[in-house]
Amino acid sequence: MKTFKLVIAGGGSTYTPGIVKSLLVQKDRFKLNELVLYDNNAERQEAVGVIVRHVVEMFDPELKLTLTTDPEVAMTDADFIFAQMRVGLYAMREQDEKIPLKYGVVGQETCGPGGLAYGLRTIYPMVELIDYCEKYAKPTYWIVNYSNPAAIVAKATFRLRPKARILNICDMPVAIERNMAEILECDRHDLEVDYFGLNHFGWFTKVRLNGEDVTEKLKSYVAEHGYMPQNAKSDVLHSDPSWLHTYANAKNICSAFHDYLPNTYMQYYLLGDEVVKSSDPNHTRANEVMEGREKRIFDAVADYRAGKDVDLTKFFGGVHGEFIVDVAMSLAFDLRKRYLVMVENNGAVENLPSDAMVEIPAYITDRGPEPVRVGEIPTFYKGLIEQQEAVEKLIVDAAVEHSYEKALMAFTLSKTVPSLLVAKKILDDMIVANKAYWPELH
Ligand code: G6P
Ligand code: MN
Repeated sequence: MKTFKLVIAGGGSTYTPGIVKSLLVQKDRFKLNELVLYDNNAERQEAVGVIVRHVVEMFDPELKLTLTTDPEVAMTDADFIFAQMRVGLYAMREQDEKIPLKYGVVGQETCGPGGLAYGLRTIYPMVELIDYCEKYAKPTYWIVNYSNPAAIVAKATFRLRPKARILNICDMPVAIERNMAEILECDRHDLEVDYFGLNHFGWFTKVRLNGEDVTEKLKSYVAEHGYMPQNAKSDVLHSDPSWLHTYANAKNICSAFHDYLPNTYMQYYLLGDEVVKSSDPNHTRANEVMEGREKRIFDAVADYRAGKDVDLTKFFGGVHGEFIVDVAMSLAFDLRKRYLVMVENNGAVENLPSDAMVEIPAYITDRGPEPVRVGEIPTFYKGLIEQQEAVEKLIVDAAVEHSYEKALMAFTLSKTVPSLLVAKKILDDMIVANKAYWPELH
């Protein structure tokens, strides 16, 4: 049986134990010969590694587990690299969220100015990761990337390293499908969706349950309740109050525009004023995560180190880990499964630019994604996407050209920002906050 060397880049992430669990439960079909945790933060990775060691012991005790900060050790002969880096950690996410809110603008990790700031931090570290893979990994390597902001990462890496074997993915649509399945009282694997958009900026156009069209049924449900199932099963992921608010908010979009079912992230663009009003500028999602998911992990590490028992199941994050493993298995074994992924548009959506990185269904083969044709999309959606796509293009230009003016254009063009003057204030504050991370802008 073929075995694989798999690297998790961003090994110190709070998501690592969940991903490792999802990997190892597949060991009879997708057998690893080595699992590597790779991070530039040795201390954080050692801590998360304490949990991961226990997960390995639980599911595949024979497996070789390596923790390293050395890219050559990590990538040499690697088959798969799961990327989930968070440049600047949650402390910088907090800045991304709080600086815009100071000016009454949406403060979010991947949408609006916060997403642009995070993009400027992440573009070059992702390019560096690709270069390490090109240098050390097997020529058939695949990077499966969760690192955010995935829309900007996808755009930048395609522009700067067009030949890289990187597939950018996001678990949000799958998480929404999980909720759809709970609403319909079915298994999420029995759903098949049609979808178009950019990452964190898209719409489900059709949902089929074992072939039966259930789109209208879902639309009327979501217009009333959002993506909140009546009898929600508990899930460790996306169960905090802010997530419940996000899922519920879809009703305000769905009850107004009847064509499609929105991605939850559309709230930041279409309901920005409501989102700002319900945000606390002194306590944002980054604080919730630091006090919740991140604290739970490091508390558990301390418990292990003190010789206490820990309930590992609270770190097994459901769809997030399952999805990246599903995609990797389809790449590894040419399963041709149909998933939503980010690909170069190349005519798939006829009336969008061909170099846009769109999120659409694709069949995942061992040569990469084979996207489906979407056809033409209506004016409202086209207008929204073109604006957002231009924002993302401009921020990549800003990074490549070191251009302050292009960055200011990106901030000004974002639908979340009311004027050039506000854009400039936010950008100037962000330049100061991101001094250690951004390319210099002139
Ligand atoms: C979803 C998105 C991810 C994002 C995450 C944030 O899963 O697809 O791209 O990073 O939400 O969740 P958090 O719990 O950190 O706010
Ligand atoms: Mn995502």
